[in-house]
Amino acid sequence: MISTVAADRKNAYPSLIAALCERDAYTRHHCDRVSSLAVKMGRELKLSVSALESLRIASQLHDVGKIGVRDDVLFKPGRLLPDEWEQMKAHSIHGERIIKETFLLNKSDVASIVRHHHEAFDGSGYPDGLSGKEIPQSCRILLVIDAYDAITTSRPYQKSRSHVEAMDILESEVGTKLDPDMFSLFSQTIANGSTRESNIRN
Ligand SMILES: [Fe+2]
Repeated sequence: MISTVAADRKNAYPSLIAALCERDAYTRHHCDRVSSLAVKMGRELKLSVSALESLRIASQLHDVGKIGVRDDVLFKPGRLLPDEWEQMKAHSIHGERIIKETFLLNKSDVASIVRHHHEAFDGSGYPDGLSGKEIPQSCRILLVIDAYDAITTSRPYQKSRSHVEAMDILESEVGTKLDPDMFSLFSQTIANGSTRESNIRN
């Protein structure tokens, strides 16, 4: 029989995914797509089993903190005002706090990835303005995939772009927002058949 603690540890993660889905179905599907590619890239980088597991969970829950963002901000169809943008940015810290309250065995690693998943390579990201290799590698992976998926997805305030357009946009952000090495690996992974049109949606 599974002990209560073990069962809690096992259940903490799907429960959060279900909560995220109830809050915003788009975010849930986005996170599923991002996770599929993140694991592929993590394998290419030969991450350890535990690092890969943290990346897998964090990539599915990286936006779980959006549970704590007000409706009028999270679902606003137009551009966010400066104070609304500050509230939206706080989702990475809400997410870190939520993960730390779970029974996940690797919760400190997962929480750290969630906290830093919007840090930019040149230090212009949030919440801590980390730069270069100060940013956990899993976050540098997530940033490329997250941006690609956002660009190629239709939202109330934007039309989806094609794969080619998305790659051009990402290329222009290499060295500023994106880690050059992670972009290069992402390009190879995509070239091997993981375009949004093929694997990501599946
Ligand atoms: Fe996010």
